[in-house]
Amino acid sequence: MENIADKTILITGSTSGFGAASAIDFGRRGARMLITGRSHERGESVVAEIKKAGGKAEFIAANLLSLKEISILVDDIRSRTEYLDILINNAGDAFLRKRKSVDGIEATFALHAVAPFALSSQLHPLLARSRGRVVNVVTRMPPNPRLDVDDLVNPRIYRGFNRYYH
Ligand SMILES: NC(=O)c1ccc[n+]([C@@H]2O[C@H](COP(=O)([O-])OP(=O)(O)OC[C@H]3O[C@@H](n4cnc5c(N)ncnc54)[C@H](OP(=O)(O)O)[C@@H]3O)[C@@H](O)[C@H]2O)c1
Repeated sequence: MENIADKTILITGSTSGFGAASAIDFGRRGARMLITGRSHERGESVVAEIKKAGGKAEFIAANLLSLKEISILVDDIRSRTEYLDILINNAGDAFLRKRKSVDGIEATFALHAVAPFALSSQLHPLLARSRGRVVNVVTRMPPNPRLDVDDLVNPRIYRGFNRYYH
């Protein structure tokens, strides 16, 4: 990505992995980074690394398996900035056993589909102000995936990796 200096960028799942590495790279190159995830310790450590390199970063904790926490996160972001240049929906997890979000939605679907949709739509006014972009990080799908699209919220039969690959 060229010329990201002075852009304001939110990356979900930026307390570790791809998200943290991207946040540190963008932060070093002059972007204002909004770091989010559940781990305060890892989030603050990413912020410290960006600041050490002379960049700007803030950590906002949120569990994306809760629609209420997503709304609180959006309110917090609104209080910090009037616009957002890039939202990267990167947070992800593989649930080998069936789990549900706080709102009773199967966790893979909640984290990888419902949360990015909720965040993107609630942050749309901030993104629109800067003609911003939304990037969704996904996983390559294996051949012949089986998924019942009528049974996304609370599947009767749960196959962890089959869900993850969607
Ligand atoms: N690793 C791979 O081989 C691979 C391949 C293809 C695609 N991907 C996709 O790439 C993305 C990043 O993968 P990664 O390997 O870098 O993952 P990772 O190191 O496990 O990091 C996942 C990030 O998501 C956050 N996260 C997980 N559950 C969350 C929740 N309920 N609420 C808020 N944040 C949550 C974690 O933060 P906290 O722990 O602080 O909450 C962490 O920052 C994921 O979407 C993954 O599906 C990964």
